[in-house]
Amino acid sequence: MKVSIIGQGYVGLTISAFAARHYDVVGFDLNSTIVSQLNQGISHIEGVASIDLKQAILKGNYKATIEPSDISGSDIVVIAVPTPLDASRKPDLRYIDSACKIIGENLISSTLIINESTSFPGTIRNYIKPKIEKYSKQKFEHEYAISPERVDPGRRDFNQKTTPRLYAGLTPEASAKTRQFYSSFCDNLVEVSSPEVAEAAKLFENTFRQVNIALVNELAQISHALGIDVRETLDAAGTKPYGFMKFSPSAGVGGHCIPVDPSYLADVADKAGVEATFIKRANEVNLNMPKYIVGRIKKDNGGSLVGKKVLVVGIAYKPNIADTRETPSELLINLLEDSGAEVFWNDPVVGSWKGNKSSPLEGADITVVVTKHDVVLSEDILNSSPYVFDTTGRVKGSVQL
Ligand SMILES: NC(=O)c1ccc[n+]([C@@H]2O[C@H](COP(=O)([O-])OP(=O)(O)OC[C@H]3O[C@@H](n4cnc5c(N)ncnc54)[C@H](O)[C@@H]3O)[C@@H](O)[C@H]2O)c1
Repeated sequence: MKVSIIGQGYVGLTISAFAARHYDVVGFDLNSTIVSQLNQGISHIEGVASIDLKQAILKGNYKATIEPSDISGSDIVVIAVPTPLDASRKPDLRYIDSACKIIGENLISSTLIINESTSFPGTIRNYIKPKIEKYSKQKFEHEYAISPERVDPGRRDFNQKTTPRLYAGLTPEASAKTRQFYSSFCDNLVEVSSPEVAEAAKLFENTFRQVNIALVNELAQISHALGIDVRETLDAAGTKPYGFMKFSPSAGVGGHCIPVDPSYLADVADKAGVEATFIKRANEVNLNMPKYIVGRIKKDNGGSLVGKKVLVVGIAYKPNIADTRETPSELLINLLEDSGAEVFWNDPVVGSWKGNKSSPLEGADITVVVTKHDVVLSEDILNSSPYVFDTTGRVKGSVQL
């Protein structure tokens, strides 16, 4: 069976690596640098080992390509392209559009098309299907399904095989074929009654996290004002064996899911005439955290940051991975610079970012920890300046969020 995966990023390459153990996989991407690296067996994604990629290439089970016609003759096509927000924080489906064009123009027979990209309920039925049909040269009876990706980059306890996977087809036949495809490399498949339920569930999972992170960030601010230790409070609440789930305060949310997906839900809610009050407010609270943090640091340092050397530790949005998408560090750095500080950053896992290289952990007046990778030692952070503000709760002996 030939499977083409459109997009070879975090999601697409992860699926490709698992699928290549069972099928002939074509990994299509528009980025020629990534494609050329992949064909040399070099993985750019944490969680996909280069050795596994090399083996799949040697066995003839995997090939990356920038040539759209290479997807012709596929039995299954999986869409795994970005679904970001535009400048006004509304869903931006331009990558889905271009994937639909490539699929429509290049498929030469009836194919099962599965969407793994995160989007609002109705995307596969009312958006992807009509687009692909519009671009198809002939009328094919394609099947359509959704199976939202739940991969959590850097996570060790759950992976593609062990994370339960939701799916639903537009027809019972599409559902059955989708189940058959994933069952070769996923242990737990959960069929739901419609694609819209699977699409909505995916958005709600990340909205749930966004809202709870905002809630705990608000509690951090309340606790500080009251002189109570927020982390001890959370540990105390966490002793209740039911009805409570612990989230931790932070400088905000990053990555491609939590800061983005809730806005897809809010947008579709707006269009349906329902005001998504919680979702919008949670987004504001999280985006406001860097401002709150700069305010605290200013207050502790004589009311002004003008001319102060400030070291930001951690550019990746979470520990032990190099993903910097939507990182709260960026907002924080901008605000610190606006306050007159001279800002530099350390992140050995990211290495270089926005044309600059990671700075050593030394020579600062003020250090702010946004993300603490395991390889960055607390002792070195504490020695980097006389004042260390920690948003992670992982650097003992520093000022805590
Ligand atoms: N990264 C995650 O942890 C994660 C988890 C669950 C769901 N998702 C969702 O999965 C989708 C993909 O995210 P990602 O993290 O893999 O993105 P990514 O940015 O890592 O990779 C996307 C890839 O798609 C390529 N691309 C863009 N348009 C294309 C096109 N028309 N044809 C072929 N390739 C194209 C890009 O060059 C890029 O290499 C998004 O909808 C995202 O929300 C991501």
